[in-house]
Amino acid sequence: MTKHFEMAYQDSAGGLTMLFIHGFPFSSSMWEMQLDDLHELVRVIAPDLRGHGFSEVEPPYSIAQYADDCITLLNSLGIIDPVVICGLSMGGYVALDLVQRYPERIAALILTATRAAPDDKTGKANRDKAIASVQANGVEALVKALLPKLFSPSTLESAPELADIMQSMMVATPTDGVIGALKAMRDRADARLWLSSIAVPTMIIHGADDQIVPIDEAQYMAEAIPDAEFVRLVDAGHLPPIEQPEEFNKAVARFLITTFGDEEE
Ligand code: MLT
Repeated sequence: MTKHFEMAYQDSAGGLTMLFIHGFPFSSSMWEMQLDDLHELVRVIAPDLRGHGFSEVEPPYSIAQYADDCITLLNSLGIIDPVVICGLSMGGYVALDLVQRYPERIAALILTATRAAPDDKTGKANRDKAIASVQANGVEALVKALLPKLFSPSTLESAPELADIMQSMMVATPTDGVIGALKAMRDRADARLWLSSIAVPTMIIHGADDQIVPIDEAQYMAEAIPDAEFVRLVDAGHLPPIEQPEEFNKAVARFLITTFGDEEE
């Protein structure tokens, strides 16, 4: 018998809805500064993906399953109108899956710190090594290796407390959730194949110092997606919404107002 999957999420109220999808191995709490700031402009919802945060850990795991879980959440909230999707890194993989399989549910797309290309042979082998390491030693070693790569050098100097916050968030992710996500990312589809058919307004925001996803990969998406806007954030690494929240939120607010108008006007 299939057990009903219970997904935890944060939600505000309002008209146009924006769904924030976190990266690996984070949770919805990474969007705190966006939820606080943007809820006056749009309804903001930030789920914890399967196996992360407060959501349940049960399989199956795949990028498509995460995307289906997001649609199930929107359906359960009665949100049938198209929403704005904002995905960071692994959340961007989910956003790209959503825009391909559920185009009628998407009003606009914001991709940050992400890429469209799938894992190559080396990338897949590295995922398998990471899975073996997590199985043998738990998530701490993976978190320790990942942490220094998340931030711009300037962030580590100006806001070193962010490293502790992200570390706590990452080590709280259940082992099975981490392993499930590594498999999901290893096996993800090649989203480059459908970039040119994306027909919704799109903005790509990328940190100039991202050590995990080179900025060329974001530029590639910006060139391939029709009329996509590209924003390069200085003094940001792999976590633009956390490292440069004001600049990030300003870019998102401007994009929303340009695309949908200011309902308060
Ligand atoms: C993420 O931040 O979601 C991951 O680093 C993405 C990846 O490993 O491909």
